[in-house]
Amino acid sequence: MSEHLSPATRCVALGREPSTPGAQVGSPLVLSSTFHADGEDNYARASHPTWRAFEVALGALEGGEALVYASGMAAVAAVLSLVPQGGLVVAPTAAYNGVLATLAERESTGEVRVRRVNLTDTAAVLAALDGADLLWLESPSNPLLDVADLPTLIEAARAAGVLTAVDNTFATPLLQQPLTLGADLVVHSVTKYLSGHSDVILGAVVTTADGSGHALRERLERHRHLHGAIAGPMETWLALRGLRTLHLRVERATANAAVLAGRLQEHPCVARVRYPGFGAIVAIDVAGDAAAAEGVAGRTELWTHSTSLGGVESQIERRRRYLSESSEVPENLLRLSVGVEDVDDLWRDLDAALRAEINPAG
Ligand SMILES: Cc1ncc(COP(=O)(O)O)c(C=O)c1O
Repeated sequence: MSEHLSPATRCVALGREPSTPGAQVGSPLVLSSTFHADGEDNYARASHPTWRAFEVALGALEGGEALVYASGMAAVAAVLSLVPQGGLVVAPTAAYNGVLATLAERESTGEVRVRRVNLTDTAAVLAALDGADLLWLESPSNPLLDVADLPTLIEAARAAGVLTAVDNTFATPLLQQPLTLGADLVVHSVTKYLSGHSDVILGAVVTTADGSGHALRERLERHRHLHGAIAGPMETWLALRGLRTLHLRVERATANAAVLAGRLQEHPCVARVRYPGFGAIVAIDVAGDAAAAEGVAGRTELWTHSTSLGGVESQIERRRRYLSESSEVPENLLRLSVGVEDVDDLWRDLDAALRAEINPAG
């Protein structure tokens, strides 16, 4: 298929069976743990046709080659397996709390050393690269929506011989393609935008399609095979079905988010809006304390008070309700995952909850 297809067409078209007479149009959900000998697939912990369809589509969107995992965290663990024993990881002070927790745990056992930096402080990140094995980037970050200077950081890491991994969950390959900037690895919580319907837990790692990417891919694939953190065929099939509309969902959700971020800037019950100018996640510091923020999240009717993000339905959550969240995240911060509903309906619901819980004068 043409290399020059637009991302929207890639979402719809890639990973399908060849268009021969009688072939399935929908991608097949294959439920077999083993395959007749001497074919492309042998045992379903090693390779699987349903994985391959999703991996072809995601790989093409990111400009590399994808491997699907049981969850975003399984994908993170696979990438961390590339760091040598006692190796040095340069990582953000604030990012997805599961990544922060796994790094802290591995640090406490001596498996890795961690040098923590504020990713928005480019000079500090550059200074931290000396002697590092892996630079872990997440941009925009969860939940502060910090944006790192990816081109500068990736280029410097490459020059210093440091592997770079970018968690691209928030941006999706439609808004940002780190491999094209020179990153070695892209990580996704496929659970979020790529599958998009809050019905799947899944992850992916994407490597470059060149020699060094293939060497990394071989190690990652072996890790997946031997550690067994494999994706279920049903989940992978659902994720591919979700991916078919990624462009439409991202377009609508990001348009909604831009409108809401603008209106929230003017809202008397909102002290600060965090919105990087792209993507569909917005965070607000309410003009009140943690209890007030919890009150808002508990009061909305259309916005579901639930964890996770990237689904068609809008979600709201106070992130510091989790002890594992970075202390850099304000207690009164609400993360808003903007969905694809009507933007005025979303606004009315959120505005009413804010006004009911927060007294701007107080
Ligand atoms: C940015 C980011 N990366 C990774 C993960 C982990 O993904 P999963 O929950 O699919 O394991 C999450 C989950 O919230 C996330 O937000």
